[in-house]
Amino acid sequence: MERKKYVIMMAAGSGTRMGAGRPKQFIELGGKAILQRTIEVFRRACPGISVITVLPEDFIQYWKDYCIEHNFSCPQILVKGGITRFHSVRNALDRVPEGALVAVHDGVRPLVSEALVSGIFAKAEESAAVIPVLPCIDTMKVLESRDGELQTIPGMSVDRSLLYGAQTPQVFHSEILKEAYSLAYDTSFTDDASVVEKYGKNLSYVIGERFNIKITTQDDLVLAKAIMSLSE
Ligand code: C5P
Repeated sequence: MERKKYVIMMAAGSGTRMGAGRPKQFIELGGKAILQRTIEVFRRACPGISVITVLPEDFIQYWKDYCIEHNFSCPQILVKGGITRFHSVRNALDRVPEGALVAVHDGVRPLVSEALVSGIFAKAEESAAVIPVLPCIDTMKVLESRDGELQTIPGMSVDRSLLYGAQTPQVFHSEILKEAYSLAYDTSFTDDASVVEKYGKNLSYVIGERFNIKITTQDDLVLAKAIMSLSE
């Protein structure tokens, strides 16, 4: 039997790198909040999906008001975020039952395609943990900052052909993700796949998308507008 689908929409970051007055997930892109755009992609890709939106506590009322004012009527379970992304996901997982498929997605990746979302969900029917990755195109350097200067670490280099960048959505069998999130927090947990791997489970991979950018800085906003103009 097909598993019921959930998405945990991560939007509880403070967005300090953007330098805007409010967190970046609430900034408007083409007349709509980035977070609304991101949720809409999942609703088009997977009609009937349950949406859990994780927000900064101080912005829960703001988001409720925004949705009413903008006639954004998507049913959402609103959850308060935590001190790190890990703690935010853990809060949201309390609202997900076992036996489901659960995607965790950065609310600031509105340009993910419906095809990537539905493709990862389809693969996750067979594999317990599926994540999108992109091969690195830049040459990577391993450096450290000493006395305010970037310096080489002698003997440290990385083979670029082995390096991939991880994106979201990352989709899991919910019972596996819930068990993995019972681990104690570790600073190496920068995405959900790293938690599941530490818990001892294998990951499956699909190739991600160059345009599935995580809008983090003002430059990313410029890029996102340019990408969106391609399909106008
Ligand atoms: O900080 P980072 O760029 O890794 O954030 C990725 C996503 O996780 C963002 O969508 C952000 O809103 C979310 N986040 C969260 N709770 C936190 C920190 C980040 O939901 N405490």
